[in-house]
Amino acid sequence: MANPYSAVLKLTFIFLVIASAPELGGSSKSVTIVNYCKETVWPGITPSENFSGDGFTLKPGQSAVYTAPAGWSGRIWARTGCDFDKNGNGDCQTGGCGGNINCTGPGTPPSTIAEFTLGDGKPDFYDVSLVDGFNLPIAVKAVNGSGNCSTAGCDGDLRNNCPSQLTVKKNDKVIACRSACDVFNTDEYCCRGIYEDPAMCSSSNYSKIFKQVCPVAYSFARDDPTSVMTCTGADFIVTFCGSRNQTVCSYHGKQLLCNGSNSKGFKTKPDWWWVFLLLVAYVSKLCLS
Ligand SMILES: *[C@@H]1O[C@H](CO)[C@@H](O)[C@H](O)[C@H]1NC(C)=O
Ligand SMILES: *[C@@H]1O[C@H](CO)[C@@H](O)[C@H](O)[C@H]1NC(C)=O
Ligand SMILES: *[C@@H]1O[C@H](CO)[C@@H](O)[C@H](O)[C@H]1NC(C)=O
Ligand SMILES: *[C@@H]1O[C@H](CO)[C@@H](O)[C@H](O)[C@H]1NC(C)=O
Ligand SMILES: *[C@@H]1O[C@H](CO)[C@@H](O)[C@H](O)[C@H]1NC(C)=O
Ligand SMILES: *[C@@H]1O[C@H](CO)[C@@H](O)[C@H](O)[C@H]1NC(C)=O
Ligand SMILES: *[C@@H]1O[C@H](CO)[C@@H](O)[C@H](O)[C@H]1NC(C)=O
Repeated sequence: MANPYSAVLKLTFIFLVIASAPELGGSSKSVTIVNYCKETVWPGITPSENFSGDGFTLKPGQSAVYTAPAGWSGRIWARTGCDFDKNGNGDCQTGGCGGNINCTGPGTPPSTIAEFTLGDGKPDFYDVSLVDGFNLPIAVKAVNGSGNCSTAGCDGDLRNNCPSQLTVKKNDKVIACRSACDVFNTDEYCCRGIYEDPAMCSSSNYSKIFKQVCPVAYSFARDDPTSVMTCTGADFIVTFCGSRNQTVCSYHGKQLLCNGSNSKGFKTKPDWWWVFLLLVAYVSKLCLS
């Protein structure tokens, strides 16, 4: 996906730390969450040991690092179009999780979901799921892992290709794409009843459109199980509105790791500036703590 905002994004990259561990040790994982969207998102993260689900915003170009404890199983998704009052009460156009900035439950479909099951010393599993529909592109990249650590998720934005029967609109603009199961609620689309058997539940003309835009993602409940990755020792980067081939950076210990199709490069000034600003942000975090 061409991203006209990337130069600006890289210059405004801000480093937030949520649920920080003083040192990334043991088998806790750093999950860097980056907002490449043109709009603010409110990430949703399944609560864990040191993170109770408190809401926060990521403006365009901002990132946050979530430290997931060993063995964490959970989801990361984006809430969009939220409007919270000064007490933190309000609603989101998509992905809302209880009428508050702090999530009290999972997001309301339709929303794209990054799913993780972290092995404590064993391989980690991760995938992107469109089973609950789509609200924005998500890509999950594993950095410095071993095993099958392919990048999961999307190359484009399904809001631009959503079949008309599945669209969710706000002011004539498509803000999300519902799943065929959600809209038609048949056993066949939902993989229920006799279709519960993976051999019986096949892709539909709807799920195929989802799969075209997000090739490494679950496009329906019994989608090809190879959509889930099995990777050991990696840190993760979740991007909102990025694409799978994008160069991304994350932290592990005191090192900045970058990867992507251009990872040998960093030829252009904006890329260097981005790394530089990340380092400045990181060093200032070290100095403050
Ligand atoms: C990444 O993929 C998008 C869409 O598939 C394409 O437009 C873009 O040129 C690719 N970028 C790189 C660096 O390969
Ligand atoms: C949770 O916080 C405690 C106390 O600061 C820390 O010792 C522990 O490592 C943290 N756990 C994770 C997973 O960050
Ligand atoms: C959200 O959680 C944080 C920390 O637990 C708390 O300080 C804040 O008041 C909560 N916000 C709302 C709107 O409940
Ligand atoms: C990257 O992975 C290798 C082997 O998997 C490990 O030895 C190395 O320490 C890792 N690098 C960082 C910065 O974590
Ligand atoms: C980046 O990706 C390349 C190829 O995919 C891989 O060989 C390299 O080890 C990766 N580097 C890091 C730091 O993960
Ligand atoms: C999918 O197939 C159904 C029934 O076969 C048809 O009614 C519907 O229009 C098709 N939708 C798309 C987007 O092709
Ligand atoms: C890794 O997973 C992807 C997606 O499931 C699959 O296409 C690929 O063949 C796998 N690679 C290896 C080395 O297992």
